[in-house]
Amino acid sequence: MSDPSPAATPPSGPSPRARTSEPGSTRRYDFLVLGSGLAGLHYALRVADVGDVAIVTKRKATDSATDWAQGGIAAVMDPSDSFDAHVRDTLNAGAGLCNADTVRFVVERGPEAIQALRKSGVEFDPARQPDGPVPFDLTREGGHTRRRILHRRDATGREIERSILARVQAHPRITLFEDHCAIDLITTTKVGRTESNRVLGAYVLDASTGDVHAFTAPITLLATGGAGKVYLYTSNPDVASGDGIAMAYRAGATLANMEFMQFHPTCLFHPQAKSFLITEAVRGEGGILRRRDGHAFMTDYHEMADLAPRDVVARAIDTELKRTGDDFVVLDLASKDPAFIRGRFPMIFERCLKYGLDITREPIPVVPAAHYTCGGVRTNLSGETDIANLFAAGEVTSTGLHGANRLASNSLLEAIVFAEAAARESIDRLPRVQPPGEVPAWRHGNATQIDEAVVITQNWDEIRRFMWNYVGIVRSDRRLLRAQHRIGNLREEINEYYWDFRVTPELVELRNLATVAELVIQSARLRKESRGLHYNLDHPERDDVGFGRDTLIQRGESPWISPS
Ligand code: SIN
Repeated sequence: MSDPSPAATPPSGPSPRARTSEPGSTRRYDFLVLGSGLAGLHYALRVADVGDVAIVTKRKATDSATDWAQGGIAAVMDPSDSFDAHVRDTLNAGAGLCNADTVRFVVERGPEAIQALRKSGVEFDPARQPDGPVPFDLTREGGHTRRRILHRRDATGREIERSILARVQAHPRITLFEDHCAIDLITTTKVGRTESNRVLGAYVLDASTGDVHAFTAPITLLATGGAGKVYLYTSNPDVASGDGIAMAYRAGATLANMEFMQFHPTCLFHPQAKSFLITEAVRGEGGILRRRDGHAFMTDYHEMADLAPRDVVARAIDTELKRTGDDFVVLDLASKDPAFIRGRFPMIFERCLKYGLDITREPIPVVPAAHYTCGGVRTNLSGETDIANLFAAGEVTSTGLHGANRLASNSLLEAIVFAEAAARESIDRLPRVQPPGEVPAWRHGNATQIDEAVVITQNWDEIRRFMWNYVGIVRSDRRLLRAQHRIGNLREEINEYYWDFRVTPELVELRNLATVAELVIQSARLRKESRGLHYNLDHPERDDVGFGRDTLIQRGESPWISPS
């Protein structure tokens, strides 16, 4: 067992400026979980069988991408479907970068995952024909050759989040810390010597008091979700600022494939609608994308037309918008019965009606928006990162399932499968892990209160805008270089802020957002080809020889292409 005394505990930054030591309270648990979406909640429930669990979440527990998921969860449930077909569809969407072992590992655990969710109280919509071969209504989304997506109308994530959260809240061995924002992981070893590095917990800011506490545990799970907020337009909740990705990077973990940000083709285009997704299941049930002149353009782009993989549809819309100068395309449901639309998509129907749009009578104006971070913290099949005892599950990870483009509705499946795998390994390992012992208290030092909050909002907006314009659906070498220059300048400024002022949740998020933006830019600059979600005008072809492998990145190193 490696030395339990922490060597690299101060908040990481460019220079170890002095911050005087202050008394801080340490909270000790058996398991520390960062994040309260499906992955974090499922893991917490499982490991609470053997130990005390703290769940730290930066806003309310339901502020998670899980809660916002509309479409559903993909699993092979129909006897006419097969694991091989689901594996094939996932590999096709992933454009040559999926890890075939991971794909099979996840797909084959689909039915078991559905059973676990139902055991947790999750209800899926029943089959429309009660005497059919499957008791559930299975819908279809882009890239799937079969109907295999279980859903709860158009609010599947909410059903999952609320059911599991209720069990978590009732569990005597789980403590939920809302409005607690993790700042940095606490690890034993300085970055660059990751071979013996292990996690001891995290420094966490209590947003209500401004105090920073050390939360320690022999085992930590990162389940903090993705980083859609790095882009100006996103379908993600506000919490999606890539915190776990940035924290793991600062602690020395290896990240993979950060250039692959998935843009969802259809977010509602309306001045008052922020981040409102129109699920791909609308197209799965017969919705058709049209230009404003009525042309159903997806048949011009792909044989699967409106149900082509998501990268193809998003790029097609982007091309049509640039060509026509229109602000949006429309999603047409005219062929569907109004009663069906109201019953199958009640949340979308109600929300659009609020904006004065009756989707049973009018087409829906839509645009693409950043939706899913396919890259992230690299893990093995037990969900362990390359920092010992640091596990990760859900959108924060790169497990090898998504490759260069995630297949729709594979992410809730991935979250629960890896949360389960991580829980099993954690339960097994706990008795063998030395407790973290004492860790240094967080030091505010001479830091003062932030004087001008406008600096934070200015930098936040600037990052998101240039990421959208330069590192978006269509990239070029020159745009990426511009983005690299911009983020370099901003990083300096943000680091100065970080060291001079007392941390606030906004400052923590901004610092993480800048880190993730830089990781995306660096990874995108390395990949001089076009594949899946990464399209570069200067390198429009796929190059399997030079780039048919993962992009890896670790603190202190330049990014590199994985040798295997
Ligand atoms: C959707 O409902 O279209 C989103 C599903 C997903 O992103 O997997």
